[in-house]
Amino acid sequence: MAAGVLLLVVVNFACFSGHLVSGERSFSIDYKNNCFLKDGEPFQYISGSIHYSRIPRYYWKDRLMKMYMTGLNAIQVYVPWNFHEPVQGVQNFTGDRDLEHFLDLANRTGLLVILRPGPYICAEWEMGGLPAWLLQKPNIILRSADTDYVQAVSNWLAVLLPKMKPWLYINGGNIITVQVENEYGSYFACDYNYMRHLQTLFRFFLGEDTVLFTTDGNTDKEMTCGTLEGLYATVDFGTDTNITEAFKRQRRFEPRGPLVNSEFYTGWLDHWGDPHAVVDAQKVSRVLGEMLTMGANINMYMFEGGTNFGYWNGADHDTRFRSVVTSYDYDAPLSEAGDPTEKLLAIRDVIKQFRNIPSGPMPPATPKFAYGFVTLKKVGNVSNLLNTISPFGPVKSQYPLTFEDIKQYYGYVLYRTTLPRDLSEPTPLISPLNGVHDRAYVSVNGVFLGLLQRDTMLVMNVTGRQGDTVDILIENMGRVNFGSKINDYKAREQSPGLLSDLILGKDVLKDWEIYPLDIDGAIAGGWPHSDSWKTSPAPREPSAGPSFYMGTLQPNGLSWDTFLKLNEWTKGQVWINGMNLGRYWPARGPQQTLYVPGPLLSTTLPNNITVLELEGAPAHLRVLFMDRPQLNATVEKS
Ligand SMILES: *[C@@H]1O[C@H](CO)[C@@H](O)[C@H](O)[C@H]1NC(C)=O
Ligand SMILES: *[C@@H]1O[C@H](CO)[C@@H](O)[C@H](O)[C@H]1NC(C)=O
Ligand SMILES: *[C@@H]1O[C@H](CO)[C@@H](O)[C@H](O)[C@H]1NC(C)=O
Ligand SMILES: *[C@@H]1O[C@H](CO)[C@@H](O)[C@H](O)[C@H]1NC(C)=O
Ligand SMILES: *[C@@H]1O[C@H](CO)[C@@H](O)[C@H](O)[C@H]1NC(C)=O
Ligand SMILES: *[C@@H]1O[C@H](CO)[C@@H](O)[C@H](O)[C@H]1NC(C)=O
Ligand SMILES: *[C@@H]1O[C@H](CO)[C@@H](O)[C@H](O)[C@H]1NC(C)=O
Repeated sequence: MAAGVLLLVVVNFACFSGHLVSGERSFSIDYKNNCFLKDGEPFQYISGSIHYSRIPRYYWKDRLMKMYMTGLNAIQVYVPWNFHEPVQGVQNFTGDRDLEHFLDLANRTGLLVILRPGPYICAEWEMGGLPAWLLQKPNIILRSADTDYVQAVSNWLAVLLPKMKPWLYINGGNIITVQVENEYGSYFACDYNYMRHLQTLFRFFLGEDTVLFTTDGNTDKEMTCGTLEGLYATVDFGTDTNITEAFKRQRRFEPRGPLVNSEFYTGWLDHWGDPHAVVDAQKVSRVLGEMLTMGANINMYMFEGGTNFGYWNGADHDTRFRSVVTSYDYDAPLSEAGDPTEKLLAIRDVIKQFRNIPSGPMPPATPKFAYGFVTLKKVGNVSNLLNTISPFGPVKSQYPLTFEDIKQYYGYVLYRTTLPRDLSEPTPLISPLNGVHDRAYVSVNGVFLGLLQRDTMLVMNVTGRQGDTVDILIENMGRVNFGSKINDYKAREQSPGLLSDLILGKDVLKDWEIYPLDIDGAIAGGWPHSDSWKTSPAPREPSAGPSFYMGTLQPNGLSWDTFLKLNEWTKGQVWINGMNLGRYWPARGPQQTLYVPGPLLSTTLPNNITVLELEGAPAHLRVLFMDRPQLNATVEKS
């Protein structure tokens, strides 16, 4: 075994002995010398992952420059399909979704790109990047040769890949390699026809000369189902893995060629209700140094994590459903707000030993400001605002429908019916078959009674009189992006909404009015601040149950980054100046503050804050803008 390791090291050093320069742009694999070749010269990449979908466009350049100044020569980028094709057949590549602008900024900064266009990406992103409209076919088998799935994938890649072609290094751009699928070996289907189909599409659109690769967790089973002849097999692993063993596994599938760790974990993600995850900086830099010494090509996942704005967080489902928090700080070398950390400096010191890093200072952290307290006032509760937030009114159905059925894929939907009989005694409302995806906030005649929660709270008590209005607000907390449960998912099980009937005492609740809620649309149209001149009969005090609150942060001439803390609020969603900052849940933790990108704030106009609180607001109705994040606080186990 020791001899094998020695041989490996010798062979990899041989890679750097020099080659003929061809003069033209080329990027390929040198199987003889076990390395990549760029323009005919041996090439080793030191790369970091960054997701443009998790960073506001105006900060892309800043983050890329900091990565370049750390000494990286490449970045690794996922393309989330659902971010670009929210409605089937309608693609968006503008504004924060302008992938080509991002590639251009990287190219101008001097960074090569390892592109990961999926179509599945995991990434702890809503449904692993797959568009939820795929689930309209009830029994679709995602990530397989399922005809409808493959058709949708082919249509998408026929739009995306031709856009990427001019950006290939060999065509004058900066994309050196392209990953096909993502950790496919972890998925139950193990469908080689699907992988072969993807290979055909990638080759057709990107040409024969592009280096295509796969990435898999480092077990033989994963490598067996995830790899395909013609796609270069790479592995991913973190600081706790024996690197010799891990690269030996790659060697079993790629006896020759460069060693590649496509995801070397610099940190880890958080779930609501779980302890805050960190990975020690010393360990990261030590293992990085060891791998670079072996001549391996390394991508650090993440280098800059960013934020799950809006509804873009994913979820895991192992023993129970666990939703990913809003921050994707990841304990990465650049923080969620893009600030260099001690970990970054330690990594830069390691990289210095292997390549010349750019001279000049590391760009500093962006300035932060503690704007202080803002007191909000109540706008009204969800049930009384349906004219505004559900402009097209309800869909009627005898039995509950899913979010996909009514073509509202994200956020919140209100399900309304009436009590079928008098219930003077507390009567159990049951979600049999675990049919609430993912949380149900239940009110009867405007009185909030409690909630049901997927996997953990399947029954609650209800009282009331026959004919009383039952309002159930359902929250989609992000679709599962990975884990054993994705293996055998049929569309219905994966859907948010009410997936089975609700049983109240002896009765099945029927005859639903289902209100799609376009909260983001209403807020984009100026609501509720544009309406605030109207004298509203709604009580201005907090109350239990899903309700909206509003306030303004007065401009002070600054538009610096800040962190919003909703101390003693329970759970909900926040918008500032129309931007959906994501979910908050301080009662659960560990995340306590939401990142507010400075350029979002106006220096001259009142900044409009809107909060949807789902359970209960504190009497003080205050929120606090602080100058630092709190990502680790006491956790209430779910
Ligand atoms: C496309 O995405 C951008 C950035 O998020 C957004 O501003 C724009 O409204 C979207 N375009 C359409 C047509 O939805
Ligand atoms: C990328 O940058 C290089 C110079 O660094 C330039 O020659 C090339 O044209 C750029 N590619 C694209 C597609 O803009
Ligand atoms: C890694 O595994 C090899 C055997 O493949 C062993 O010789 C070595 O001691 C292990 N390294 C560590 C740090 O455990
Ligand atoms: C919603 O508002 C109405 C009218 O202001 C009120 O009667 C009702 O009790 C409120 N419901 C909740 C759950 O706060
Ligand atoms: C429902 O009410 C009954 C009777 O008061 C009580 O025993 C039971 O614990 C309650 N169940 C829940 C889930 O609150
Ligand atoms: C906040 O809302 C008010 C009322 O609609 C509007 O006049 C103002 O421009 C908004 N502020 C910002 C920063 O957009
Ligand atoms: C998070 O906070 C808890 C409680 O203060 C502490 O025990 C724990 O070590 C902290 N975790 C990290 C990763 O900092």
